[in-house]
Amino acid sequence: MTTIRPFYLDCDTGIDDALALAYLLATPTVELLGIGTVSGNVAAATGAANTRDLLQLAGTPGIPVAIGAHDFLARPFDGGAPHVHGPNGIGGITLSTADHTPHSETAAELLIRLAYENPGTLRILAIGPLTNIAHALRLEPRLPALIAEITIMGGAALVPGNITPVAEANIGNDPEAAREVLAAPWNITLVPLDVTMANVLEEEHRRELLAADTPLARTLGEMLGHYYRFYEGIFGRACSAMHDPLAAAIAVEAVALRTAPVIHVEVDAGHGPGRGQTICDLRGQHLGYPEQPGAHCRVVLELTEDFAAHLTNTIIGRTPQNQESRLQAAHA
Ligand code: BDR
Ligand code: CA
Repeated sequence: MTTIRPFYLDCDTGIDDALALAYLLATPTVELLGIGTVSGNVAAATGAANTRDLLQLAGTPGIPVAIGAHDFLARPFDGGAPHVHGPNGIGGITLSTADHTPHSETAAELLIRLAYENPGTLRILAIGPLTNIAHALRLEPRLPALIAEITIMGGAALVPGNITPVAEANIGNDPEAAREVLAAPWNITLVPLDVTMANVLEEEHRRELLAADTPLARTLGEMLGHYYRFYEGIFGRACSAMHDPLAAAIAVEAVALRTAPVIHVEVDAGHGPGRGQTICDLRGQHLGYPEQPGAHCRVVLELTEDFAAHLTNTIIGRTPQNQESRLQAAHA
């Protein structure tokens, strides 16, 4: 029997956030109950507008989208990453505008309500700065006991950062929030740059999206044109990392993990060159990572197989079940 899992998504939409959203919507075991936006790639309000427009394009405009924190815990939002995600966060693509009437709750309030309505089963996927989640913890310190698991795209364990030599953007934008969220007593899965930079979407995958049947998949293919130009400066060819969609696939347990130790992780929220670093205690690596008493953060370092084809097949709708039913229909 297939278990349907309720999810709350916290995002800063964002091209790779858009891929993660499309992936969740295409995954039959996911029930996406609500989405909160946070400033990061774009301002929280812009991220909410992008998210609503994408939901409309996907034909699922009814999922609530709550605007979350505009500013980080210890500093104001400073304009985001237009050089990575384009001036509007979605590669400069104009989508037909959905109803943008604001949701009555903040992102933190929406998350807390959904947690109480789904005690012990709600999963959080956080793919932006952790400001909303930190606000939710401050509003409701019992939140961790209500949540089955939180999966976070963020950090860098053994590889360089992407906004400073050591800090990854989601953690580095709001280290105070990340520190609180990683210290809270819940089951955390951290999906850092170690694994998201090692799994790359190539031009052939973008072409498949561009040729797909659905407007959402084709639009994602167009957005990726912008994202690939940024990553060309990093990888030396037109391609992109898969930060947020990989975190989504790990949250829904659709990819097998080769190395994912449960270890102590701390965030440097100081003001020196280490600010925003995720300090991962990987000292057990030569012994196969023996148990660390009290540790509750699983850090994904390596997958067993390539992820790109799974991502594009899921978004395009070529899941094994769909393929089978298409074949059956074709032979009926
Ligand atoms: C993370 O930062 C954002 O730019 C992306 O959307 C992703 O969540 C990668 O460091
Ligand atoms: Ca993101």
